[in-house]
Amino acid sequence: VECDPAQLSSRDAYKLLTGSVLPRPIALVSTVGPDGQPNVSPFSYFQAISARPMVISFCPNLREGEGTEKDTLRNIRCSGEFVVGVVTEENLRMANEASAEVAPDVNEFQLAGFTPAPAARVRAPRVAESPISLECRLLHLLSFGNGPGAGRLVIGEVVHAYVRDDLYQDGRIDFLRMGPVGRMAGNWYCRTGDVFELPRPPAVKRHP
Ligand SMILES: Cc1cc2nc3c(=O)[nH]c(=O)nc-3n(C[C@H](O)[C@H](O)[C@H](O)COP(=O)(O)O)c2cc1C
Repeated sequence: VECDPAQLSSRDAYKLLTGSVLPRPIALVSTVGPDGQPNVSPFSYFQAISARPMVISFCPNLREGEGTEKDTLRNIRCSGEFVVGVVTEENLRMANEASAEVAPDVNEFQLAGFTPAPAARVRAPRVAESPISLECRLLHLLSFGNGPGAGRLVIGEVVHAYVRDDLYQDGRIDFLRMGPVGRMAGNWYCRTGDVFELPRPPAVKRHP
């Protein structure tokens, strides 16, 4: 099957993209609104960009139906800050509850059963049930289109990192113990316990 993505409906384009780019890690993004209302939602268009400076990105895209901005995006535009947690086997069900499309005045921490904990460097709370929290300041906000499902890329610098003690040993994160979950297409997810090691080939001298 071959197609021109521009000829697909936004729904079919979404299904082709999410069925092609997978499994995806899931960011659990918390923000605070201009009225002080805390917000938390999962986002699987999520990626690491740079280690030093530490920079990450995710995409709170325009809503599929009416093409309006999500609360997470509006909050970040106002505050310039957010916290990224990780979705694990332990907190996936709560993260899924937090994805409900609800009015901006609904406290999604309460809705999903998450516990807000104070962050060290930003005003948005971190999620206590996430074993890792990356506190971020907004660096760039890029827009791709304006219709339903159009892309909004949030790029942030990590200004403070929190890792649960039992997961951090000799500068490494024990990812098997952490149990991150990946997002597939539709409502499908994958566990990450079935792992194997593959050493990189030795470095060869490049031509001058
Ligand atoms: C596992 C999962 C991953 C998601 N990933 C994204 C994503 O990458 N981008 C996006 O715009 N919405 C994504 N969503 C949907 C948002 O979580 C949902 O629209 C949420 O209501 C946004 O909340 P807000 O309006 O409070 O920001 C995802 C939902 C789930 C359950």
